[in-house]
Amino acid sequence: MKPIVLGTVLTLALSLGAHAQDMGDAAAGEKAFAPCKACHQAGKNGVGPNLVGVVGRAAGTYEGYNYSAALRGSGITWDDANLHEWLKNPKAKVPGTKMVFAGYSDDKKINDVVAYLKTLK
Ligand code: HEC
Repeated sequence: MKPIVLGTVLTLALSLGAHAQDMGDAAAGEKAFAPCKACHQAGKNGVGPNLVGVVGRAAGTYEGYNYSAALRGSGITWDDANLHEWLKNPKAKVPGTKMVFAGYSDDKKINDVVAYLKTLK
């Protein structure tokens, strides 16, 4: 009986740990966002569009920014899954986008950046 209970507790603890990692760490994400700042300044459009409120927004719709036709017509809404694919490889997610960023291969880094984007309100 006892080993089974211990096993259950361990499995639960492990799955909780994995979940916490999925959620991302906004503080680490702010650091991982540093290269993005070359083009994205908080609260205004620059080379790239304003990212305040981007999580949950339809892609290519921030007022006053001149998006590529590809992103405007993508039909994407920026939820966790879409942001993840985008930040992994923007040109694969939206062929023809004008965001010149190679992408992050590290899933943890991407989750952290997405957690940070959620704090931009
Ligand atoms: C070299 C400049 C540049 C860098 C670096 C860059 N971006 Fe972008 N980003 C852009 C441009 C330009 C667009 C608009 C793309 C289009 O219209 O096709 C964009 C679009 C976006 C969008 C979609 C916004 C919307 O309103 O639909 C998100 C989200 C985004 N970038 C996040 C990031 C993040 C996070 C990083 C860093 C990991 C990053 N970008 C790095 C230039 C950049």
